[in-house]
Amino acid sequence: MNEPVKILAIESSCDDTSVAIVDGDYRVLVNLVSTQPEHNLYGGVVPELASRLHIKNVMTLTQSALLKSGNTLQDISAIAVSVNPGLIGSLLVGLSFAKSLAYALQKPLITVNHMLGHVFAAKLENPLLKPPYLALVVSGGHTELVFFKTESDFAIIGKTKDDAAGEAFDKAAKLLHLGYPGGPVIDKLSQEGNPDFIEFPRGLKQKADYDFSFSGLKTSIMTYISKQSPQFIEDHKADIAASVQMAIIDVLVRKTVSYARSKHIEHIIVVGGVSANRTLRKLMTISADKYHIGTSYPRLEYCMDNAAMIAAAAIGKWERKEFSDLDVNAFSTKGLRYL
Ligand code: KG4
Ligand code: ZN
Repeated sequence: MNEPVKILAIESSCDDTSVAIVDGDYRVLVNLVSTQPEHNLYGGVVPELASRLHIKNVMTLTQSALLKSGNTLQDISAIAVSVNPGLIGSLLVGLSFAKSLAYALQKPLITVNHMLGHVFAAKLENPLLKPPYLALVVSGGHTELVFFKTESDFAIIGKTKDDAAGEAFDKAAKLLHLGYPGGPVIDKLSQEGNPDFIEFPRGLKQKADYDFSFSGLKTSIMTYISKQSPQFIEDHKADIAASVQMAIIDVLVRKTVSYARSKHIEHIIVVGGVSANRTLRKLMTISADKYHIGTSYPRLEYCMDNAAMIAAAAIGKWERKEFSDLDVNAFSTKGLRYL
């Protein structure tokens, strides 16, 4: 009998170092994430600092992942790593480490697009999930609506023209002095607020336009804040947060469901950091339900950057023997792509 497939994956595209081992049935044997609170001091990610911290973390995290899952390097079938998009220095740390492992062990190297990894996070929740489906990929750096015909054949339907949805949450939180990252804080605060308190603008409202724009919202929040007293803002923090959240979510839900309906797509998946948002999940499910469209979301721990999703995206590549040479490079290019 063949040994079961076990993919060891490394994710280091931004400020989280993560190492996971996932088997061929999409079972997560271990998924470790080491965050970098060092950036909090600067109000955002410092790329050079992120690279150095990845160097410090990646080896010990890999050793812990093996130990915790009761595996040795010899049990691993292939090494997967995210190679784009992301901070180039950070990506190169993960890639160099993955290459060394693959070379030393004489095991295949599988390179994965980080955004595609986010899409496969939904498969960790439901291994039977298969295209066709429409994926709304919403993270700190990206907002993309993507139609998947198969797991390796997909088309970008729309993307953001300026800020990403997560970025819109983060910038709004900064303007309201709520801290970073803004998404989780706004999500929590909004539970006690009135989403109809202020009608912030919805970007690119036209019906057949599936691109997104959130920069107008940011300007509108700035203008609104400048016209109110600090005490008013403080007293209505939850209402303002809920109104901002609704302006972002309303467009995401409307465009996604509208496209799915127009093309008779029967399933929607929402992935990426912003897919952790409770109101987004609720409103997307209610709206899709009305048209008998199914919805899937990753488990909360796999919404944010993690290596388990990179391993999940590598399983199909393993099955199709789509391996990379050791001279493969990382690149910071934006967006979802297959290679
Ligand atoms: O996917 P991710 O972990 O990293 C990138 O690839 O960018 O996404 C991070 C983003 C941040 O902008 C964060 O504010 C947002 O996801 N986020 C949320 C929530 N949790 C994280 N946005 C809205 N609601 C949340 N609960
Ligand atoms: Zn991400």
